[in-house]
Amino acid sequence: MNKKKTISGFSKLSKGGKIKWMVENFFKDPEIVVRELQSYWHSNEEQQKILDNFSENTISNFPMPFGVAPNFIINDKPYCIPMVIEESSVVAAASAAAKFWMSRGGFTTKIVSTKKLGQVHFLWNGDKFKLYYHFDAIKKVLIEECFSLTKSMVKRGGGILDIELIDLTDKEEGLFQLLASFETCDSMGANFINTCLEQFAVSLKNYFKLSEHFQKEEREIEVLMSILSNYTPKCIVRASVECDIADLGKFQGGMTAEQFAKRFAMAIRIAEIDPYRATTHNKGIYNGVDAVVIASGNDFRAIEACGHAYAARNGQYESLSHCSVENGKFKFWLDLPLAVGTVGGLTSLHPIAKRSLELLENPNARELMSIIAVAGLAQNFSAIRSLVTTGIQKGHMKMHLQNILNQLKANKEEESAAVTHFADQIVSFSAVREFIEKFRIE
Ligand code: MEV
Repeated sequence: MNKKKTISGFSKLSKGGKIKWMVENFFKDPEIVVRELQSYWHSNEEQQKILDNFSENTISNFPMPFGVAPNFIINDKPYCIPMVIEESSVVAAASAAAKFWMSRGGFTTKIVSTKKLGQVHFLWNGDKFKLYYHFDAIKKVLIEECFSLTKSMVKRGGGILDIELIDLTDKEEGLFQLLASFETCDSMGANFINTCLEQFAVSLKNYFKLSEHFQKEEREIEVLMSILSNYTPKCIVRASVECDIADLGKFQGGMTAEQFAKRFAMAIRIAEIDPYRATTHNKGIYNGVDAVVIASGNDFRAIEACGHAYAARNGQYESLSHCSVENGKFKFWLDLPLAVGTVGGLTSLHPIAKRSLELLENPNARELMSIIAVAGLAQNFSAIRSLVTTGIQKGHMKMHLQNILNQLKANKEEESAAVTHFADQIVSFSAVREFIEKFRIE
């Protein structure tokens, strides 16, 4: 092992020291790398400090495109949606779907529920019937002893909703769980929930220690861990669109509205029954969802983990969106679990996340849930529309061509010649490079 490539006390080095150690040990052209990293530092030192403080061992910033998709009508209100995404054609697809549905009544959303969950996992080897018998009293104590932590959330209309006792002793000897549900209003609530759970754990231990209802040997419990659950199947928003089938219009190659509706519905059906297709289908939904979640400073890992668990809730991974074509109506909808916030965390610290929320006219958490779900539905609509009509590569290749031309540093004249040439040719890096090299010689 090359010892030079490991280090102790790295986190204590200055930013310059960290970069120096890294480039000297891992790069062939250290000076160029240093200059490149520094070129992405924020010109304003205060702003850079804010970004540095989000994480540890920061050496630079990692730029991602920040785009916007206008013309979204959601519950009769127009929105211009911010999206952070590196995949070409996602923002274009969202904008195209927004425009398509703008003249067909727009998107409608409904918040089904906003319950968030957390668990205290503990081991206890006592008489479980006694535990159940006393659980209402235990619950009362847990909630009362948490009051100093919950009172400001309660004032805002939230707090602890309930605590259930879950018996897992049939799977593991002595294993129980407190399953607590919370309303966290406009905050995502992770810190609030975890703080409450850790207090429950302390109160629970004390209760057993001091309770006269339990034998001496029953007074010890072992709390393993207290943590929120990112699976929130009761924090759900439904986004939908619908119109008369005839109003869908005409599609490429002379496809009629009826033919399109049938093909579209069958594509959704395939994603409902086949996990291989469902995974790609849902990935397309998360192209839209994640882009808005990131732009608004929310946690996309939590959102993704929850969505995929939800997609498997019936025992098989399946589509998150659904479609019906009946009685002359085309209906397309998506039920999505979304635990997001519009106050606290990165939402108020990240300068661009703050601007994203301002662009959305400072929505509350329920409105943001709606906007994110609509972005997912729009993305899914555009993807399926392309797949069942022209195929996906046509649109993708247009963007891909642009990326290749940028890489080859093509000028305006070369760019326009390439766009004309590749309108009916297959785009690949080598084909474009060959075309540009020839064009430059001629
Ligand atoms: C690509 O990022 C997303 C799609 O594959 C989604 C889909 O197939 O539905 C186009």
